[in-house]
Amino acid sequence: MSKKVVVLAGDGVGPEVTAEAVRVLKAVSTHHKLGLTFEDALIGGAAYDAVGSPLPDATVAACKSSAGILLGAVGGPKWADIPVQHRPEQGLLAIRKALGLFANLRPVTTVPELAAASPLKAEKLKGVDILVIRELTGGIYFGKRGRTAQAAFDTCEYTTPEIERVCRIAGTLAMTRRRKITSVDKANVLDTSRLWREVATRVFRDEFPQLTVEHLLVDAAAMHLLSRPADFDVMVTENMFGDILTDEASMLAGSMGLLPSASLGTGSGPGLYEPIHGSAPDIAGQGVANPCGTILSAAMLLRYSCDAEAAARSIESAVAAALQAGARTRDIAAPGARDWLGTTAFTDVVLRHLAAH
Ligand SMILES: NC(=O)c1ccc[n+]([C@@H]2O[C@H](COP(=O)([O-])OP(=O)(O)OC[C@H]3O[C@@H](n4cnc5c(N)ncnc54)[C@H](O)[C@@H]3O)[C@@H](O)[C@H]2O)c1
Repeated sequence: MSKKVVVLAGDGVGPEVTAEAVRVLKAVSTHHKLGLTFEDALIGGAAYDAVGSPLPDATVAACKSSAGILLGAVGGPKWADIPVQHRPEQGLLAIRKALGLFANLRPVTTVPELAAASPLKAEKLKGVDILVIRELTGGIYFGKRGRTAQAAFDTCEYTTPEIERVCRIAGTLAMTRRRKITSVDKANVLDTSRLWREVATRVFRDEFPQLTVEHLLVDAAAMHLLSRPADFDVMVTENMFGDILTDEASMLAGSMGLLPSASLGTGSGPGLYEPIHGSAPDIAGQGVANPCGTILSAAMLLRYSCDAEAAARSIESAVAAALQAGARTRDIAAPGARDWLGTTAFTDVVLRHLAAH
């Protein structure tokens, strides 16, 4: 089995946060004798600038021969006006497609000490531990589209096999957790959602009879995520609904910078691991980005692509311990506080906790 981790630093804060996650992975690899090796490759605007494509063939080849891929972020105002097919974001869509990654896992947990960073009341945040699974390669982001000067359209399409496979991943993961699943759709309006509900109902009933299943309309789900977030265990939904709900859910944790994600396919191919935030051009180059989302993505890489659960947990515990001990980056510091840490100094604290356990 490959032990190679491909690092796609990308643009904006991407290189800053991936550098810190690699430091953590190297420390854990030594401690747990994982034998990981690392290879850098180009993606996004950085790749376009270097070789004229947001996803060079060499990057795809490196990724295909890896155990897993750690990605920072792509995009930024520098590339806003180049032709659509060369835009940094195309690199991301293309690598997901090239690797057949159709399920995006986004865990959302809360740390009591960070309650003040969330706009929600502290008592609502107690016990929040949600795993959102977003379908990643279908739906309106990939359907036929077009526009004229005065009109535009985007189409949403789903097939039964596309819904079945993501529901199976959701069901399998729910079985390892609290065994509750919430499928989110808009079945009162959309045909794709009616198909989604029909297929989800059948897959969970026939293949995961031990699960408690609920179906929510996406508008109600958006509300319940704020009114009763601790009730959710696994949520599964289509591409655009998942995109929007997970950004909303990130505010339960307190900052976009805190949350990791994993994109998985079927079989033994490599997964792609990245924070849920973008390239944050407004803070890029300042050394203030929160590295937690990327460090926790590295933990997911160990869990899902390297079969290294103990090592994954040691990273998650070290991040939690750093936060519990009061380490803060600027985005999660108390208003007016001056004792927040930069990206590297925060990671130093995580590494100290890692070494201590
Ligand atoms: N997966 C990806 O690579 C990805 C995802 C979303 C957006 N983007 C791209 O990123 C660029 C910027 O998009 P945006 O501003 O809408 O979203 P963003 O996630 O980059 O930033 C939103 C806000 O969150 C803050 N933020 C983000 N990450 C942070 C971190 N680690 N620490 C502290 N604060 C953080 C930013 O400073 C900004 O104020 C665009 O070009 C967009 O296309 C890329």
